[in-house]
Amino acid sequence: MEKILIVDDEPFICENLKRILEEEHYETVVDRDGRNALNILKRETVDLVFLDLNLPDMSGLDILVKMKQWDPDLLVIIITGYASVESAVKALKLGAYDYIKKPFKADVIKLIVKLSLETQNLKREVSTLKKQTEDLLGGQALIAESPVFLEMLKQVREVAHHSETTVLITGESGTGKDLIARTLHNLSPRASRPFFEVNCAALPENLLESELFGYESGAFTGAKGKKIGIFEAADKGTLFLDEIGEMNLGLQAKLLRVLEDKKIRRIGGIQSHEIDVRIVAATNQNLREAVSAKRFREDLFYRLHIVPIHLPPLRERPEDILALSKTFLAEFNRKFGRKFKDIGPDAKQLLLDYRWPGNVRELRHVLERICIMHDDEMLREMHLPKELTASHPRDDSPSLPFDFPIPEAGINLEDAVDQFTQHLLQKAMRMKDGNISHVAKLLGIPRGNLRYKLEKYQKGQ
Ligand SMILES: Nc1ncnc2c1ncn2[C@@H]1O[C@H](COP(=O)(O)OP(=O)(O)OP(=O)(O)O)[C@@H](O)[C@H]1O
Ligand SMILES: [Mg+2]
Repeated sequence: MEKILIVDDEPFICENLKRILEEEHYETVVDRDGRNALNILKRETVDLVFLDLNLPDMSGLDILVKMKQWDPDLLVIIITGYASVESAVKALKLGAYDYIKKPFKADVIKLIVKLSLETQNLKREVSTLKKQTEDLLGGQALIAESPVFLEMLKQVREVAHHSETTVLITGESGTGKDLIARTLHNLSPRASRPFFEVNCAALPENLLESELFGYESGAFTGAKGKKIGIFEAADKGTLFLDEIGEMNLGLQAKLLRVLEDKKIRRIGGIQSHEIDVRIVAATNQNLREAVSAKRFREDLFYRLHIVPIHLPPLRERPEDILALSKTFLAEFNRKFGRKFKDIGPDAKQLLLDYRWPGNVRELRHVLERICIMHDDEMLREMHLPKELTASHPRDDSPSLPFDFPIPEAGINLEDAVDQFTQHLLQKAMRMKDGNISHVAKLLGIPRGNLRYKLEKYQKGQ
């Protein structure tokens, strides 16, 4: 039961508030002159305070300041007369959560208390979760800046509360399916219960079955004693079935039965055991195609597909590319004692233009490698691996080694081509240490022709 402290000198107001709040089953404590309010806070766990700003012997604002010093997260709602809305606004600036005007209506009080306590709980939940996620992932928090990813997270938050609902997470490799499955669990009422992860591709079929279902002693050769399966071990928690597309058809049928009946039978067992597990499945395959190819059961597909969550590829989330890059840089700065502070515009553009076939995992590895190999203050094009610099621009049209500007006044084409040729010759000569045969081969021209060009352009210099 939440406890609410009422600080007001008017007995009528105190009584009125007390009655309204107790109707809603909140516990109340009343302090008539404000002198004792702080002591009450220090002594008892108070969830919310109603504070009158006009107290006889102490300014309500002073009390507010002291209260917020004691507990910065404390919810304080100011009670104010019509005349003193200005001081209420001042109080909001000092950290009060909201204010109500006298005389007040019971409904308004009930609503404001309900909403503010809910907000407070959410805030607490988020900070605990943040900490839990960081612990779980060894200091790695979920980064989300792009509108598409934030929208997807909204769905995750929504479905997390429906703790029985099966969820299917799809997305290319490295888009964060694991991370989202854990986040879903952490945001759900099952958060304090176990989270189990099974990779369906990693185990041979019969081993996967005995891991999931467990077995009774003597169920098969080598089954010494009985073993509880993961379905049972994960009771009240979440079971994450990764790479579900790799599960074989026989086991798919058994999984479907578990999802329908919410019961399992250990291998070799007679008795069924009720289970209460939320299944979260993930795949980077196109399951619809797998269904058409008869590699995946259609009924299971629809059973899993109740709430599909799709993680968009990283290349479609430019805001995330930059936010993740900064976070990973900071992380690897710490890890490898580097001092990268910022990303230069050249490198930024290349990071944004690259296709990222391995998505966030690839981005993470790229930045880790950079921090191992280089130390600088600004991340620049020269630090980036070849695949990023070579793929620019993103489409497959042949790329020029330099972008030749054409001023409004025009250029002389012959001269421009000459400059371009000279540029390529010099580059090729550097690459092959001036070895004429190798350079000629590199440029696809006969040696005689190369000699002629070299002479011409070197003369022309
Ligand atoms: N939004 C994100 N914020 C922070 N880190 C992320 C984010 N998305 C992914 N990562 C990190 O990228 C790496 C790959 O993510 P994850 O393992 O969840 O991908 P996946 O989709 O499960 O890949 P696969 O299909 O290969 O199993 C992990 O190190 C993960 O922590
Ligand atoms: Mg994964």
